[in-house]
Amino acid sequence: MESMREILKKAKKEKYAVAAYNVNNLEWARFILEASEANHSPVIMEVSEGAISYMGGFRLVVNLINDLISELKIDIPVALHLDHGSSVESCKKAIDAGFTSVMFDGSKLPLEENIRLTKEVVKYAEIYGVTVEAELGQVGENGEEGIYANPVECEKLVKETGVFCLAPALGSVHGIYKGTPHIDFETTLKISELTNVPLVLHGGSGIPDDMLLEGIKSGICKININTDLQIVWAKAVREYLKEDAFVYDPRKIIKAGEEAIKNKISSINKLLGSVNKA
Ligand code: 13P
Repeated sequence: MESMREILKKAKKEKYAVAAYNVNNLEWARFILEASEANHSPVIMEVSEGAISYMGGFRLVVNLINDLISELKIDIPVALHLDHGSSVESCKKAIDAGFTSVMFDGSKLPLEENIRLTKEVVKYAEIYGVTVEAELGQVGENGEEGIYANPVECEKLVKETGVFCLAPALGSVHGIYKGTPHIDFETTLKISELTNVPLVLHGGSGIPDDMLLEGIKSGICKININTDLQIVWAKAVREYLKEDAFVYDPRKIIKAGEEAIKNKISSINKLLGSVNKA
C-alpha cells in the first residue's frame, strides 16, 4: 500500500481524478479492489470511523486490505485512508495501525483550532510518510447544503499546516441530494490556484457526470463515493431476494450485489479518467 502522494500528484498533473470508495465490509473491499484492478485504475480505499468499529478496529482493517491485496494479487497503487477522522487521537491510531493516509476533519471547529489540530496530525503523519487531508467549510447532510469554504481561509490552512490535500466544502452533500446539486466550481478553481494542492470532493454520489468533469477541470483530484455503490448494491440484492424467497445463505445474498457494484465502479473510473493510470 502507498500514501495518496504519488497517486494524486499524477492525477493533478494529468488532470484526472481518482475515486475514493468507502469500504463497508469485507466484500466491499474485495469488490473495489477487483474492479479497480480490472480497470488498471489506482484506488483509494477509505474507511470511516463507524465502518472501522463495525468491522472490528483499525488493525483488522489494515490486515484485511493487506491480505486481500496479496491474496488477489492486486498490482495497482492502493491507498488506505481514514475518512473524517474526528480527533488527533483517532488519526494517530489509524497511522499506528498502518493506514497510509488520514483525514482530520476539524471543519466544525473555529479556524485557528482546526489549523492547530491539523498541524499536530501532519507532524505525526510525516514521520511515517502518511498523507493528510483537511476540510474547511462543511459538507451538507440529509440533502441540505452545508457551509461554503472561504478561499482565503483555505490558503491560510494549507500554508500553515502543510497538509497534502484539502476538501473545501462548496455545496456538495453526503448521501442523496434533494434536487440538483449546486456546487461552486468557480470558487473551487480559485482555491486550487491559491493553495496548489490536490482538492477533494466529498459527497461525490448523485452528482451529474458533466459537473464531475467540471470539478476535475477546477482542480479536484479525489472524489469520495459511498452512497452510489450502496444504492446499486441494495437494488440488486432486493431483486435477488424477490426472485428467491427462500435463500438464506448470507454469502449468496451479499454476492448478489457484486456485479452491480463492479459495473458502477468501472463506469465511475472511466468517467473520472483513472482507467489505465495505474
Ligand atoms: P457519498 O456517500 O455522498 O458518496 O459521500 C461519500 C463521502 O464523501 C465520504 O466522505
